[in-house]
Amino acid sequence: MQISGTSSLCAVILYALALVSQAHAINLDIKDEQSIKDAAATATYGMMVWYHGNETGQIPGAFPDKWWEGSALFYALLNYWHFTGDDTYNDELSVGLEWQSGTNGDYLPNNYSHFLGNDDQMFWGLAAMTAAELKFPDVSDGFSWLSLAQGVFNSQKGRWDTTMCGGGMRWQMFPYQGGGYTMKNAISNGGFFQLAARLARYTENQEYVTWANKVWDWSINSPLVNNQTWLVQDSTEGTDGCINGANIPWSYNYGTYLMGAAYMYNYTGDPQWLEATNGLLNKTLQTFFLKENGYVMEEITCEPQEICNNNEVLFKGLLSTWLSYIALVVPSTYDQIMPKLQASAVAAAQSCTGNNNNTCGVRWYQSKWDGWTGMEEQISVSQVFSANLLPFVQSKAVAPVTSKTGGNSTSDPNAGLDNNNNKKSAPKPITGGDKAGAAIMTVLLVGGWGALMAFALMGSGA
Ligand SMILES: *[C@@H]1O[C@H](CO)[C@@H](O)[C@H](O)[C@H]1NC(C)=O
Ligand SMILES: *[C@@H]1O[C@H](CO)[C@@H](O)[C@H](O)[C@H]1NC(C)=O
Ligand SMILES: *[C@@H]1O[C@H](CO)[C@@H](O)[C@H](O)[C@H]1NC(C)=O
Ligand SMILES: *[C@@H]1O[C@H](CO)[C@@H](O)[C@H](O)[C@H]1NC(C)=O
Ligand SMILES: *[C@@H]1O[C@H](CO)[C@@H](O)[C@H](O)[C@H]1NC(C)=O
Ligand SMILES: *[C@@H]1O[C@H](CO)[C@@H](O)[C@H](O)[C@H]1NC(C)=O
Ligand SMILES: *[C@@H]1O[C@H](CO)[C@@H](O)[C@H](O)[C@H]1NC(C)=O
Repeated sequence: MQISGTSSLCAVILYALALVSQAHAINLDIKDEQSIKDAAATATYGMMVWYHGNETGQIPGAFPDKWWEGSALFYALLNYWHFTGDDTYNDELSVGLEWQSGTNGDYLPNNYSHFLGNDDQMFWGLAAMTAAELKFPDVSDGFSWLSLAQGVFNSQKGRWDTTMCGGGMRWQMFPYQGGGYTMKNAISNGGFFQLAARLARYTENQEYVTWANKVWDWSINSPLVNNQTWLVQDSTEGTDGCINGANIPWSYNYGTYLMGAAYMYNYTGDPQWLEATNGLLNKTLQTFFLKENGYVMEEITCEPQEICNNNEVLFKGLLSTWLSYIALVVPSTYDQIMPKLQASAVAAAQSCTGNNNNTCGVRWYQSKWDGWTGMEEQISVSQVFSANLLPFVQSKAVAPVTSKTGGNSTSDPNAGLDNNNNKKSAPKPITGGDKAGAAIMTVLLVGGWGALMAFALMGSGA
């Protein structure tokens, strides 16, 4: 602030004003449970100022130009509620997570379904799976959380593609989606693998075990996952027979295969899954938690040049959440995981000094705000704070449940299938006067999951 030329009294007053409005980081004492809860409340409040789905004329859970991100927001809310006990946002969560499920109960709502990628749908399925695992109450007049996860699973298994590379999920669902349709990528396959593994553990239904094994086996025989070095590559091109991989490291690609392996180990006790869990965990920690950053998580492909797009800003939050669940279902990983999550949360809190209202930034490791503002930044920080409540809770009490350990979300193994009778009419609007309409859809056709990323990847395939 320039104060030269003003009288000394004026300078004093200005100085006082500057002090009052000075930005403060989120106060976080990583050893203090209440401090972490308060930090999580602040970050989550900052996240919810971007959510308008509960207001008159708005559509619950709808983010028209970035549909999948609604699932990331609800995922963060589920963890926030579960680990802090604060149910402030549970109504919005329940209504929004249900609303976007569509009339078929498979998260392909008509408004959006014609331009979605398999990964978009899958992320909503994982959020619903989380709701079931955390015993978030089912709604009384709609699809159960478990059945929604099953609906996504059934829908995706029908799109398993054996016409190229002997199997695998394509990135996009439809031929008119161009390059994304012929590409097979880690998040779509690793996401389907994770969903199958979590359904297997929750329901003990053999079909999910079979599919988890099938997706895993295909993945390690493709360039996507190397089961010796544990390198996870972003994608591979089907028209080339999936010979080459695009070696662009993204934290969520590692995280999703890691989650699936950890759940499979928890469910089967097979040492091969423990080997995969340890190998992938080791590689994930080495890749994204660098010593020179004080072991604070960094999205290494986009943060150095600060070019992360909205999708990419969300990955650290997803990885934070997943690591906390992995520490719960494979307790031997806890000591390796927790210090990294703690270092990340401390630094993330230091980044929340923006706009004089605790806006959090993208780069956590520099321990100050980097000038970025957005819902995605808030979601990721909310998630890393919630994950850090793990040391203060009884792991037995917070671990994801199964149908045998207290989970009672209603199962429907045929959910989402065309011949399933358990359909519902679209839920009634809470308020009339919806404004969103066809204009939004047009924007979306070209938006999707990230045409940008596709270009970057196709251009630099190794
Ligand atoms: C903080 O300020 C930014 C920029 O004005 C704004 O977009 C955001 O909604 C504010 N957040 C809160 C929690 O007030
Ligand atoms: C929507 O939810 C927010 C909490 O995120 C709350 O403050 C607000 O009052 C709600 N608005 C309506 C119209 O219910
Ligand atoms: C689809 O769009 C209509 C019209 O805007 C709206 O009433 C409905 O709630 C939307 N459904 C979803 C799932 O977003
Ligand atoms: C790696 O995968 C191959 C099959 O592709 C399998 O034979 C081998 O046992 C696997 N190794 C590990 C460590 O899982
Ligand atoms: C983890 O990585 C280090 C360094 O590459 C290696 O020495 C160690 O054997 C790995 N551990 C596991 C369990 O893979
Ligand atoms: C599976 O997860 C539960 C927590 O849900 C944990 O108590 C148990 O020890 C885990 N089992 C194995 C084999 O790691
Ligand atoms: C599940 O259990 C809760 C209590 O934990 C109960 O309120 C709810 O009605 C049960 N739901 C079903 C579908 O049985």
